[in-house]
Amino acid sequence: MLFENKNMGPIVILVLINMSAALAYNCLPRDYGHGSIVCVCNTQHCDAIPRVQKVEATSYIVYTSDKAGQRFNITTNKFQRVKRDNKRGYFSKQGCKQQTLKDYPMSRRKHYRSVKKLWNITQKTETETKEILINQDVTYQSILGFGGAFTDAAGINIKSLNKDLQNKLMRSYFSDDGIEYNLGRVPIGGTDFSPRGYTYLDTDEDEDYTEDLLLTTFQLAKEDYSYKIPLIQEALKLRNNLLLLGSGWTAPKWMKENRKYNGNFAYLRKEMYEPWANYFIKFLDAYRNHNITFWGITTGNEIYFAMGLFKIPAVLWTPEEIKDWIRLYFGPAIKNSSYSNIKILTNEDNRPTLTHSLDTVFSEKQNLEYIDGVAIHWYFDHDFNAYILDETHHKFPDKFLLYTEACNGMAPLKPVLLGAWERAEKYAKNIFEDLNHWVVGWMDWNMALDLGGGPSYIENFVDSSIIVNATGQEFYKQPMYYAIGHFSKFIPRDSVRIYSSQCNSEVEVVAFKKPDGGVVIVILNTSDSIQRRSIVDAVKGQISLELSSHSITTVLYW
Ligand SMILES: *[C@@H]1O[C@H](CO)[C@@H](O)[C@H](O)[C@H]1NC(C)=O
Ligand SMILES: *[C@@H]1O[C@H](CO)[C@@H](O)[C@H](O)[C@H]1NC(C)=O
Ligand SMILES: *[C@@H]1O[C@H](CO)[C@@H](O)[C@H](O)[C@H]1NC(C)=O
Ligand SMILES: *[C@@H]1O[C@H](CO)[C@@H](O)[C@H](O)[C@H]1NC(C)=O
Ligand SMILES: *[C@@H]1O[C@H](CO)[C@@H](O)[C@H](O)[C@H]1NC(C)=O
Ligand SMILES: *[C@@H]1O[C@H](CO)[C@@H](O)[C@H](O)[C@H]1NC(C)=O
Repeated sequence: MLFENKNMGPIVILVLINMSAALAYNCLPRDYGHGSIVCVCNTQHCDAIPRVQKVEATSYIVYTSDKAGQRFNITTNKFQRVKRDNKRGYFSKQGCKQQTLKDYPMSRRKHYRSVKKLWNITQKTETETKEILINQDVTYQSILGFGGAFTDAAGINIKSLNKDLQNKLMRSYFSDDGIEYNLGRVPIGGTDFSPRGYTYLDTDEDEDYTEDLLLTTFQLAKEDYSYKIPLIQEALKLRNNLLLLGSGWTAPKWMKENRKYNGNFAYLRKEMYEPWANYFIKFLDAYRNHNITFWGITTGNEIYFAMGLFKIPAVLWTPEEIKDWIRLYFGPAIKNSSYSNIKILTNEDNRPTLTHSLDTVFSEKQNLEYIDGVAIHWYFDHDFNAYILDETHHKFPDKFLLYTEACNGMAPLKPVLLGAWERAEKYAKNIFEDLNHWVVGWMDWNMALDLGGGPSYIENFVDSSIIVNATGQEFYKQPMYYAIGHFSKFIPRDSVRIYSSQCNSEVEVVAFKKPDGGVVIVILNTSDSIQRRSIVDAVKGQISLELSSHSITTVLYW
C-alpha cells in the first residue's frame, strides 16, 4: 500500500548533486493512503526550509502547507492599498466569535475598545467578513517557544538511524533550516515511553524496598547516557537558546504507598516528602556534570489524572497534599539550592485541573512565590472550553501558561497514521486556540517513534511528528511536523501576540510582532473549499490570499 505521489513537482537537481549532508528545500513525498503525504528523509534526501530572509517593507512572504501536498511552499508579493470598505464591519454575523463587547471577558474589554476605536467597528453588519484585521498596537502575551520531548523512545529511534540521518533528524527540529525548536522537555527517569520502568534510586532486586533517605545511591540510568544526554548535547549545538524543562514521572517504589511505579494509590509516603524534593536537586546536579543546565522544572507529570486508570508511571497527589509538599519541601529545597533561579512549573496536567487544583495550590501565599508558571497537557481540550485558560490567566496574571505535552493516536488500533492531515489540523487548531488564550508556548510529546508508535514498555503506543523506519534507514516527517513548524519556525522567543480579528468561520488566525519588528500571521483553513481572505494591517496595507483547502499558511512581513 505504497503510492509514490507523481504530482509533487520536479525533484530539484541540487538534491542529486549533494548526496549526504546538505538538506534540499523540497519534500520527497510518499503517500500511504491516509489523506496526505509524509516527506521522506533518507541518506540521499531530506527536505529543509530556507532560512527566513527579511524582505523589503513593501513586500510580504507567504509559506503554505496543505493536505494536497504543499510543504512550506514559498511565495512573495507586494502589499496593496487598503480598500476603504475593509475598515469596517467585521464583528458581524451570528456564529462569529467575540461578537459584542458583552461576549468579551471583562479584562479584554479594554483591548476591544481600543481596537474598536482604531477600526470604527460596526457590530451589526449582515455578512461574515472576509477580512482579517491586524492591529500591531494591541498586544498580549510574550512567547517562550515551541519544542518536543527527549523521551527514551525518541532517543532509541533516533539512535537506530545512521549518523548522517541522526544529524538530519536533529537538524529538522533544531536548526535554522529546520523548524527551530527552542524548548525541550526532559523526563526525570523513566516514562511510559521507556523500554522499562526505572528511577534513579532503584535497587537491583525488584522486591527490595531498601530505603536510602539521603539518596547516596542516586545515579543516572543507562538511558540517560545512551539517549538523553547525547541528544540534548546535539540539540544545544544546533540551537544555543534551547531551554530545557525537567519533568518527573514516578518516584522509587520504596517511596510510594503502593510500592509500584503506577497504579492505584501511587501516592508518595508522607515520610518521603523531603527525600523526593531532594531527588530533583540530585537530578539537576547529575545533568550539570554533563554541562546540561535546566531552565525549568515541573512538580510532576500528570499528578492528578494519571490515576490508577492508566498504566502510566506516576506519583499521584491530591491538590491539598501537593500544596503542602511545594510549600514545605519542594519550594524550599529548590530555593536553597544552587538552582534558585530555575523556573518552577506546577500542575502539569489537563485543562480540568486548572480550577480546583490550581486554586488549592495557590491558596498558600508561599506557593505564589515559589511557582513561576503552569504546565498544561492537551488531552481533555475537546471537552473544556479555552476560556478556562483566560480565567486562569486573569486569576494568576504573573504565572505563565505553557503547553508541555500533546500527541495524537491514542486510539489503540491506529497509533501511527502516516500522512494523516487531520492529525496536523488537530495540532494546529489546538495551537491557535491556546496562543489566542494567553498560552506562551507549546510542546509536542515524543520527538520520534517507530512505525508501531513505540517503544513503550506499557504498550501505550501513539503517533509522533517524526516516524523512524530503522529497517529501511529512513524517517518520515508527518503533517504534524509541518503544522508545528508553521508556528515554531516563525515565532521566535519574545515575540508578542498582537490583535487579529477572530470573526472568520472556517479560518483560524493568530498574529505576532517579532523582536526584530516583523509581523507573523498564521492562518488555518479547515474548509473543503478554497477561501479568499484579505489581511488588512492599518500600518502596512492589504494582502489578498487564496487559502487552499485544508491548509496552514504563515504570512511574514517587516
Ligand atoms: C507553490 O506555490 C506556487 C504559487 O502559488 C504554485 O504555482 C506551485 O504550484 C506551488 N507548488 C506546489 C508544489 O504546490
Ligand atoms: C471613525 O468614525 C468617525 C465618525 O464616523 C470618523 O470621523 C473617523 O474619521 C473614523 N475613523 C477612522 C479611522 O476611520
Ligand atoms: C563541560 O564543559 C567544560 C568547559 O567547556 C569542559 O572542560 C568539560 O569537559 C565539559 N564536561 C563534560 C562532561 O562535557
Ligand atoms: C539551606 O541549606 C543550608 C546548607 O545546605 C542548610 O544549613 C539550611 O538548613 C537550608 N535551609 C533550608 C530552609 O532548607
Ligand atoms: C520500512 O523499510 C523497509 C525496508 O526498506 C520497507 O520494506 C518497509 O516498507 C518500510 N516501511 C514503511 C512503512 O515504509
Ligand atoms: C480554504 O480551502 C477551501 C477549499 O479549497 C477554499 O475554497 C478556500 O478558499 C480556502 N480558504 C482560504 C481562506 O484560503
